[in-house]
Amino acid sequence: EHIEWDIEAAEKGGFEHFMMKEICEQPKAVRDTITPRIRNGRVVLDDITLTPEQLRRFTKICIVACGTAYHVGVVAKYAFEELLRIPVEVDVASEFRYRTPIIGENTLMIIISQSGETADTLAALREAKRAGCRVLSIVNVVGSTIANESDDVLYTWAGPEISVASTKAYSTQLAVIYLLALYIGEQLGCFSAEQIDTYIAELERIPDQIETMLAHKEDIQFFASKYFNAGDMYFIGRNVDYAASLEASLKLKEISYIHSEAYAAGELKHGPISLIEDGTLVIALATDSRLFDKMMSNIKEVKARGAAVLGLATEDKTEIESQTDMVFYIPKTSTFMLPSLSVIPMQLFAYYVASMKGCDIDKPRNLAKSVTVE
Ligand code: AGP
Repeated sequence: EHIEWDIEAAEKGGFEHFMMKEICEQPKAVRDTITPRIRNGRVVLDDITLTPEQLRRFTKICIVACGTAYHVGVVAKYAFEELLRIPVEVDVASEFRYRTPIIGENTLMIIISQSGETADTLAALREAKRAGCRVLSIVNVVGSTIANESDDVLYTWAGPEISVASTKAYSTQLAVIYLLALYIGEQLGCFSAEQIDTYIAELERIPDQIETMLAHKEDIQFFASKYFNAGDMYFIGRNVDYAASLEASLKLKEISYIHSEAYAAGELKHGPISLIEDGTLVIALATDSRLFDKMMSNIKEVKARGAAVLGLATEDKTEIESQTDMVFYIPKTSTFMLPSLSVIPMQLFAYYVASMKGCDIDKPRNLAKSVTVE
């Protein structure tokens, strides 16, 4: 019995749960994923065979995945369309498979999967291949089925992710998305030399910025201690903050079993605001400075209806304190990279709420680490 515990404790590196161990491994995982692919200040993806001519031929990028990996695809849509000006569609694999997608040899299909074995995602890959698409996959498990069946694979060097709730896979998948955007953008001449220098410097700063936030995890623990008995939680945001709120909401749902919804903040007035009542917890992600004022209006709307609000903002936006019950600040970076930072307090929030509720954090009820069935 005691020896058994020692082995498990050793595997968890002294952490109580694999999830917290993997949350804390993110700086190293992101660094391991980006460093080998940045040489002399430029992105070098010699693990893919796409030529500039082939890249120029694509008229559309189609991103397909499930769960957390799908949420990375939502961030990627904002990033690719803003930086590359190429149309991007993103879909959950179980929907993509049963609609009639318009894809073909001029479509770059990006498949994202931590395990590389998810049945719906694998089926979507095979449909894309049948339609003549070029398939590039972003996978964590080397040699997995999805990796083996793709034309190109960009591995996330996150190391084994044990906890069912995905954390370092999300962060490293985002890092690969950013590398891919910068690589394609440079091949297509989308950036000036200064822009690419700035983006790469900011990307290389992400691991340290994650480290900085992890050093303040007690602030999130304190906020979680006040709200872990909530019945409902709403995560709202706009643009990349909306994309990040999808992942924040899933983390909370899957390990704490609290009902939670992510909503585009601008949509509240089209219905969901009727759900907000005295004491409802709303987590407002307001890190995109371009939409900060809009988010402040949304925060005032829900406060007026009695909501308790946790705000997420970049450290220069202290005015958010006047409208919220608590604020967690994140460092500044390029807009498209903000989800890499805003996800950290959200992962911690879900972890502490579930921990305070006594939930089985690493093995939530009804869930499997890799969904190899449809
Ligand atoms: C995320 O926390 C969940 N464990 C789940 O949504 C997961 O992201 C999804 O099943 C996709 O798995 P994959 O990345 O291995 O394909």
